[in-house]
Amino acid sequence: MHVPDTAEWGWKDADTFGPIYERKYVNLRVTYVSGPDLVAEVNDDTSWDKFLGVPLQDLRSIAGDGLFTAETTEPNWAAAHAVLAPAFTQSAMRTYHGVITDTVDRLVQYWREQGPDTWLNVAPDMNNMALEVIGRVAFGYDFDSFARAEPHVMVASLLRSMKYVNRAAYSFPAAEATVFRKQREQHRRDVATIHRFIDDIVATRKSAVHDSDRRDLLDLMLDTTDPATGQRLSDQNIRDQILTFLLAGQETSAGVLAFALHYLSTRPEVADRVRDEIAEVCGSGPIEFEQVGKLRYLRKVVDETLRLWPVAPGYFRKAKHDTMIGGQYPFDAGEWVFVVLLKLHRDPSWGPDAETFDPDRWNRDRVPKNLAAVYKPFGTGMRACIGRQFAYHEIVLTLATVLRTFELEPEPGYELVVEESVSIKPGGLRIKVR
Ligand code: HEM
Repeated sequence: MHVPDTAEWGWKDADTFGPIYERKYVNLRVTYVSGPDLVAEVNDDTSWDKFLGVPLQDLRSIAGDGLFTAETTEPNWAAAHAVLAPAFTQSAMRTYHGVITDTVDRLVQYWREQGPDTWLNVAPDMNNMALEVIGRVAFGYDFDSFARAEPHVMVASLLRSMKYVNRAAYSFPAAEATVFRKQREQHRRDVATIHRFIDDIVATRKSAVHDSDRRDLLDLMLDTTDPATGQRLSDQNIRDQILTFLLAGQETSAGVLAFALHYLSTRPEVADRVRDEIAEVCGSGPIEFEQVGKLRYLRKVVDETLRLWPVAPGYFRKAKHDTMIGGQYPFDAGEWVFVVLLKLHRDPSWGPDAETFDPDRWNRDRVPKNLAAVYKPFGTGMRACIGRQFAYHEIVLTLATVLRTFELEPEPGYELVVEESVSIKPGGLRIKVR
């Protein structure tokens, strides 16, 4: 397995320097924390808060103060959290089950059409899958990705601007104004295209007759007031939330699906156990909403994938006031750290074989006693991922449908390559299906 240097996210250095260390970059000083006890301290919301690290600050040029890129103290964070949280409970998933089923059926159809001799590019196909799901769940839009040779114009702009942010985040203003001036101008045009596209959708929806059968996130945001203030979210904030779901809920779910398909295609014994479970729980009919939660072994496959490859490989925390962690590391108010999930998830608590993919380590008698301290793929506390249940439902249902339909053939000689954009995903992964 090859992890490029830029994708280490503090992991390999933690092997050398231990559970907390500091690194100086040209214009930046970063403290990396990966020991479970220290991570537990910075996860404590009373003394620490989410920090908008450089890439997140720069994402604000696209998604403003949407949930993911807002400071906890910004009024729009609490308002949007209150309005949107009910849409992400386990029971709310029932509303989205049909959309996910329909979308994975399109993926299956698309793969069938490619035929058994075609090497399928897994990561882009999973991106399309997750994009279609989010587009329909968030704002009832069908990007029709599986039928397109080129991405939708808004999606192309979004991908380009994410790439720009990911690079420019670590650059200097002087370089952006000179060497990268053209890219910066392109980024401005891309953001304008993206905003116009979403603004049009919001305006059309506001002027349309209400369809009582439709209940997507856009409807919810237009109809619901924040219980604390009695106010609705502004149109601009609704646009920022929609973009937030596209940014936070697409590449992440897609990355997990792609990593999981790598393991399922190279571990036929695991894939067969999943198929047996699906047959036992679901029979041969359509996979029902209630059955998804009963696919316990498949859920272990997903958790084990997320343990080894937390697609958001870390998160930032900042001290709310002067404080100390580990009894010896002082932090002034406002100083911040990066939590290294790639290392935390390989902590010795996971046993000597922490590097090995083994879904059975999630059996009740084997799971680490300090599980909550050494498994944080969805972040922590009040700023943890709002889409966690959604992601599990989407990923389990998609993998179950793919596995009950196809045998997966891995590409001979493929070694896992971890690629990085805003999140991580397997690079160059190809499979055949029959
Ligand atoms: C926040 C991971 C899927 C929406 C986060 C955070 C992590 C994370 C680590 C915290 C970031 C931080 O502290 O800076 C993941 C993973 C996913 C996933 C691993 C897939 C397996 C989704 C999906 C959605 C979503 C499907 C939406 C449908 C969000 C939002 C936030 C967030 C809105 C910000 C929440 C807040 O601060 O109030 N996610 N995510 N995520 N995620 Fe996810």
